[in-house]
Amino acid sequence: MSSRHESFDVIVVGAGIAGLSAAVRAAEAGASVCVLTKEASPEECNTRYAQGGIVARGGPEDPELLEQDILAAGCWLNNREAVGIVSREGPGAVEDLLLRKAQVPFLRNAEGEVDLTREAAHSIRRIWHVKDYTGRSIQESLTAYVRGIPNIHIFTSCMAVDVITNTHHSRDDSQRYAPKRALGVYVYGENTGEVVPFFASATILAAGGIGNLYLRTSNPPGATGDGVAMAERAGAEVINAEYVQFHPTILFHRDLKGFLISESLRGEGARLMNRKGEYFMDRYHPALKDLAPRDEVSRAIYYEMEQSESTYVLLDTSLLKVDPRDRFPSIHETCLRAGIDMTRDPIPVVPAAHYFCGGVKTDMEGRTTIPGLYAAGETACTGVHGANRLASVSLLEGLVFGLRAGTAAAGQADRPGLPLVQSIPDWVFPAEEEAADPILIYHDLLNIQMTMWDYAGIVRTRKRLARAKADLNYLAHRVDSFYRQARLSRPLLELRNAVDTASRIVRDAEANPKSLGCHYLRGSPV
Ligand code: SIN
Repeated sequence: MSSRHESFDVIVVGAGIAGLSAAVRAAEAGASVCVLTKEASPEECNTRYAQGGIVARGGPEDPELLEQDILAAGCWLNNREAVGIVSREGPGAVEDLLLRKAQVPFLRNAEGEVDLTREAAHSIRRIWHVKDYTGRSIQESLTAYVRGIPNIHIFTSCMAVDVITNTHHSRDDSQRYAPKRALGVYVYGENTGEVVPFFASATILAAGGIGNLYLRTSNPPGATGDGVAMAERAGAEVINAEYVQFHPTILFHRDLKGFLISESLRGEGARLMNRKGEYFMDRYHPALKDLAPRDEVSRAIYYEMEQSESTYVLLDTSLLKVDPRDRFPSIHETCLRAGIDMTRDPIPVVPAAHYFCGGVKTDMEGRTTIPGLYAAGETACTGVHGANRLASVSLLEGLVFGLRAGTAAAGQADRPGLPLVQSIPDWVFPAEEEAADPILIYHDLLNIQMTMWDYAGIVRTRKRLARAKADLNYLAHRVDSFYRQARLSRPLLELRNAVDTASRIVRDAEANPKSLGCHYLRGSPV
């Protein structure tokens, strides 16, 4: 066993809503819990950037109505058991963990009731929000709550490199014939340059999404598919990777990249128009118009841009039924910085990669196909979202299945014995490692992002996907030899994860000839 190592009952990789919910629940069950985040602060993660809100209790007719809305948005490809769980347990979990324990300041109306907003494809108003910075508010409140729990230890600037398994890593040859199980993760410390094994009975991957594999995304730069790549390298099953959701409205601006213009603006009356001033959604979805499911709105924008050879469309905010300065203060302020006064001017917007509906296959307790390895949140695929996610259900899924994974992980019975843990070697660094040239890493990542955007994006074709596969194959070989020779760094590890996860998305997209939800193949049967 490595002289330098750490041991816990439960390791959680990732500190967003799924990771922190899992950590809270495992700690409540008495486990010693470690939360790893590659960021310098646990408050920086994908959850932070969610604007619109989180689905909670909308009225007496929920949860049956919510189930129907999730299934309709997901094109009925959803796992009905998971949809039922999220719809039934979600509102209670929001009230217990977010409202009561973490004290998230959800907006209230004059009567003191929680204010409800609406987003696309929801049949009623049922979304709890903190104006247009719900994710930030949830993340800050939940982190503060977690910091007060003594048996949770947060490690910042610490990036999981790979899942440790007996069959792959043990020096005891007999282990290659034993059933595979996860023993923890190798962890790279950005401040020390060291790689230290962290051991645990249960490891939960809640490492967020994949948005940064695409040229345009609403996600922060850290969304490089780390959890999916690690799980797949360890041999866990990954499913539905072709279903990448594109958010229709990201601010189009030269310098302000990836800023989300929340769908709740359309929920409050704003409408999309093309450069000729036509409200084009009337043509694409006469019933739901601008509040049609996201995949349909994103494709409509794509076609409008293609037809008019334009690089953006406009969001007409003059139709808003609320004062944007009060209801959407962050969007209003960011637009002002971009030279757009949304009380007067329409906002230029484009679609961008937003959410991964696929991921590491789990059961309803967050268990992956490898014993001892769990997944939750965007990294996982419980099947809640099917072929397309309903707005404001991602935070809810992270919360509900994070809690469930935390309970199961804390109860993980088959603890790895000491001889097994002792058979895991120290990390081996290359003999003559050199610092990686940042320009090479930047260029390779940009190559992946352009490949994914053009060939595996909103509208796919067989030829584009074949081209993507060939280009990513070439890049994967190059990145692998780079990884084996260069000194470890966060950008290098992210690049390795990015190429692995991008390849997986393209393989699944190629293997699925049927257009459904956010996997759209031009010219294929729908
Ligand atoms: C938004 O505010 O438009 C994003 C909400 C979500 O993706 O669920």
